[in-house]
Amino acid sequence: MKRSRIVSTGAYVPETIMSNSDLEKMVDTSDEWITERTGIKERRIASKEQATSDLAYEASKIAIERAGITPEDIDLIIVATISGDMPFPSTACFLQEKLGAVNAAGFDVNATCSGFLYALHISNGMIKSGLHKRILVVGAETLSKITDWEDRTTCVIFGDGAGAVILEPSENDRGVISTHINSDGRLWELINLPGGGSRNPASDETIKNRLHYIKMKGNETFKVAVRTLEDLAVRTLEVNNLNPSQLSLLIPHQANMRIIQATADRLKLPMEKVLVNLQLYGNTSAASIPIALHEAVISDKIKEGDYILLEAFGGGLTWASALIKW
Ligand code: COA
Repeated sequence: MKRSRIVSTGAYVPETIMSNSDLEKMVDTSDEWITERTGIKERRIASKEQATSDLAYEASKIAIERAGITPEDIDLIIVATISGDMPFPSTACFLQEKLGAVNAAGFDVNATCSGFLYALHISNGMIKSGLHKRILVVGAETLSKITDWEDRTTCVIFGDGAGAVILEPSENDRGVISTHINSDGRLWELINLPGGGSRNPASDETIKNRLHYIKMKGNETFKVAVRTLEDLAVRTLEVNNLNPSQLSLLIPHQANMRIIQATADRLKLPMEKVLVNLQLYGNTSAASIPIALHEAVISDKIKEGDYILLEAFGGGLTWASALIKW
């Protein structure tokens, strides 16, 4: 069976930079603590006027241009996000309107930080089955809008941004080799946004109790993330009979430098083979992998035929990976 292939990438981050020292003025934290515990130095913050589809639009425009296609050529749009423009309609529909992608269907995927890889998993299946021929897959977030800027345990971590890829059928063995998605709903309490849904509909009470912001049990999440991602990376290579030494690049979800380092150590990968940009953008949830992938492409970190491994972990809990022959 034919593979699906990422034929182009695009990314966009908002202009406004918030540094660790900016955060020192807002909550009881320090550049030293944030750098040591996470590796993050700064993050981008969307303007008041920018919603998630606006970021997605900028990233998508680049991916479409680099693919040498027009928006009318796209037959499906999948946006992975947990910070969509509105609870409904989908951010994919807003993006479709902005692009003028009149021949596409669109929907969103909610799998938190693993969202882009979930969307890639779905898209890969759609292309391989012949149901769709050209899919715009996007990870886009404005987490700054759902972050509690009084909670130092979460507000130092997150950032805004968007990344996009165009997926098409491959003509040869280049493309997505395998995708793997997993979840464990028993651990939903580790990361969630409790307010505004049918469990806790918006009310004066939910606002007063700050339920419309991300809640995270950071340290517990950290421990599960390290263990799970190490296993996931090893397993993804094993099922494809690949040695870690054959990998050209690992593109991990950009959550925490210590988590990334642990996965690299487990695979015995030197850090030159690991794409890290969280110092600049923080954790942009579903956007982090496509932003990093675009960076790898435009800085010539990947060449044709390279094996690259993508992996992510997030609320749900969810975790996912993809092995690609570029
Ligand atoms: N500045 C200064 N101190 C802070 C702080 C901040 N921004 N946030 C927390 N602290 C304090 C805590 O209150 C705690 O103090 P105490 O020891 O006096 O109780 C201490 O620092 C250690 O807190 P802890 O939560 O154990 O730190 P940590 O080493 O686990 O680092 C995270 C916190 C959030 C950086 C880390 O747990 C993490 O990255 N978790 C995973 C996040 C993730 O991957 N999420 C999934 C994708 S969204």
